[in-house]
Amino acid sequence: MKKRFLAVALTAVLSFTALMGCGSSASSSDKIVFGTNAEFPPFEYVSSNGVVDGYDGIDMAIVAKIGEMTGKEVEISNIEFDSLLVGLQNGQVDAVIAGMTVTDERAKTVDFSIPYYTATQVMIVKEGSDIKSAKDLEGKGIAVVQGYTGETVVQDLGYPYEAFKKGTECVLELVNGKCDAVVIDSITAREYVGDNEGLTIVEDPDAFGSEEYAIAVKKGNKELLDTINGAIEKMLSDGTISEFATKYSDAN
Ligand code: ARG
Repeated sequence: MKKRFLAVALTAVLSFTALMGCGSSASSSDKIVFGTNAEFPPFEYVSSNGVVDGYDGIDMAIVAKIGEMTGKEVEISNIEFDSLLVGLQNGQVDAVIAGMTVTDERAKTVDFSIPYYTATQVMIVKEGSDIKSAKDLEGKGIAVVQGYTGETVVQDLGYPYEAFKKGTECVLELVNGKCDAVVIDSITAREYVGDNEGLTIVEDPDAFGSEEYAIAVKKGNKELLDTINGAIEKMLSDGTISEFATKYSDAN
């Protein structure tokens, strides 16, 4: 009986230590670990000469600047888009910056900073396509990235679609004639169209409303949220963010 109790107590202590151990990197106050999914140019992508830890893009430049402004060490953890908010909840990361759109659904589980960028969903189609508006998607092959707001808007329109893990996979489907349209965020779409011949963008502001990107923190982490909001406010008012946006959008 006694032995068993000891074993249980020991396990408890060990798992507590383990928890602390894995949470510590993401909770020490002199370092902020940002989770991202570096498959979303020009906001975040892998680059040998990136601004933070081999990652580059608008969001990464924002992270570097937050580090500079707060005097804190910043680190990037590159994980699947779908796992980002879970990573926030279990303490794997302190904040998420991933061109992430604020949605009511997401705001139930995390707290969002003030928005720093406005975007919208658009359709990427082949040049000469007869798709001119969202209505024309009816009966067409549609590709979206799993878990992106692009998937949600197509769901809301009620059209069947195929979901892929990455934007590049969707674009490849389109290029190979396996689908007729990719629904994805505007600025990333522009990047893909610039990288691939024969593609063009169709906008439909009536069907696709505007979306706002913000940084997410764990619910109730007011201290970090205030720090981040302070930095973003400053970067919005002094033009730093639009400077980053111009720099990285012109890069292709
Ligand atoms: N804005 C879209 C969303 O929130 C797509 C974001 C994708 N970001 C990324 N880093 N992969 O769902």
